[in-house]
This record gives sequence, C-alpha cells and structure tokens, in this order.
Amino acid sequence: MKVRRVRPHDAASVVTLMQKLDGESEFLLYEPGERSVCVEEQQEILTSFTEQSHKVMFVVENENALSGFLSATGSTIKRKKHVANFTMGLLKSAGGRGLGKTLLSHLEVWAEQNAVTRLELSVMCDNERAVGLYQSQGYQIEGTKVNSVKLKDRYVDGYLMAKILPEIPT
Ligand SMILES: CC(C)(COP(=O)(O)OP(=O)(O)OC[C@H]1O[C@@H](n2cnc3c(N)ncnc32)[C@H](O)[C@@H]1OP(=O)(O)O)[C@@H](O)C(=O)NCCC(=O)NCCS
Repeated sequence: MKVRRVRPHDAASVVTLMQKLDGESEFLLYEPGERSVCVEEQQEILTSFTEQSHKVMFVVENENALSGFLSATGSTIKRKKHVANFTMGLLKSAGGRGLGKTLLSHLEVWAEQNAVTRLELSVMCDNERAVGLYQSQGYQIEGTKVNSVKLKDRYVDGYLMAKILPEIPT
C-alpha cells in the first residue's frame, strides 16, 4: 500500500472510498448514504486540494483502489494561516498496519513546508483507537465538546485535539 497526494482523476475512487467508510465506521461524520457528492463535484473538490496551498489530501492506494485518506484544510486569513484542521479514515482492511501514523507523518511534512504550526482535529471521545493514535503522535486533548455529535438517538462528546509544531525559520 502506498500513501500519495490525491489527484483530480481519483474522484470516482474517492467517492467509492467515502461510501465504504461511511458504511463501515460510526466515527466519521456522515451516515451511510448521506454524502451526495457526485464524481464531477468530487473532481472539483480534489482540484482545489491539489491547486490551493492551504489544502492537502493524501490517499492510501492499494492496487487500483483507495483504502484510506487524510484531508486537511488551512486558512487564507493571515491570523489563521498557521492552523490546519484535518480528518482521516482507513478501511478496516487497511487498519492496524501503521498507515494512520504514515498519513500523519505526511501531514507534518506538508505542514512544515507550508508554515502550518498548529494541526487540529475533532474526534469522538469513545474512538479509543484514533485518540490513542493521535496521542502516540504527540497530539494533546485540549477540551471536550459536550454533545458534539448525535449518533442515532444518543449524543456523543468529542475531543478537540491539537499538535503544536516548531516554527521553521524562513
Ligand atoms: C483511527 C485510525 C485512523 C487508525 O489507523 P491505523 O492505521 O489502524 O493506526 P496505526 O496502525 O497507524 O496506529 C495504531 C496506533 O494507534 C494506537 N492504538 C491502536 N489501537 C488502540 C486502542 N485500541 N486504544 C488506544 N490506542 C490504540 C496505538 O498507539 C497504535 O500504535 P502501535 O501499534 O505502535 O501501538 C483507523 O482505525 C480509522 O480510520 N478508523 C475509522 C475512522 C476513524 O475513526 N477516523 C478518525 C476520525 S477522527
């Protein structure tokens, strides 16, 4: 399996990946079948991720299919340019092989190259695997968002987590 930057022509594979992930994991935001992005719209989104320096998306490629992603979005506002917010997901078949760590290390390289010094994310508090992964990579829990997500008929709290990176002198 190989981690690489996404390309606009991955659109159909990304749509398929997101549909599979939404069906497999309750830890992502969308319910199964809720995402309504078609391939053309996805292609436009991916184009923005390849052309705009405050955005990045990595995918895990396995033969001709994708089995995971990490996407990060920063800001064009001067006072927020150093911050990027990200989300990630791996299919169960790709989990437990260090790919989560690999995606996070690609994100850090991108952050260093783009003067991003704060990486942040939201994660459901009961997502022990993800919280463990982020903590193992130096992310801190900064706070709890009460009733952050409603899963069917129950509310779930979420952690705000972040990692502060050293500023690289230019
Ligand atoms: C969470 C997720 C990204 C982890 O990816 P992964 O490739 O399995 O993770 P890795 O193998 O790189 O890293 C595993 C690390 O997580 C931690 N970890 C794994 N299982 C854990 C558990 N049950 N409890 C606590 N920490 C755990 C460990 O630090 C482990 O490192 P180690 O194997 O060296 O001990 C993946 O399971 C996933 O995408 N899940 C579904 C969607 C999701 O939850 N996305 C995150 C939304 S914020």
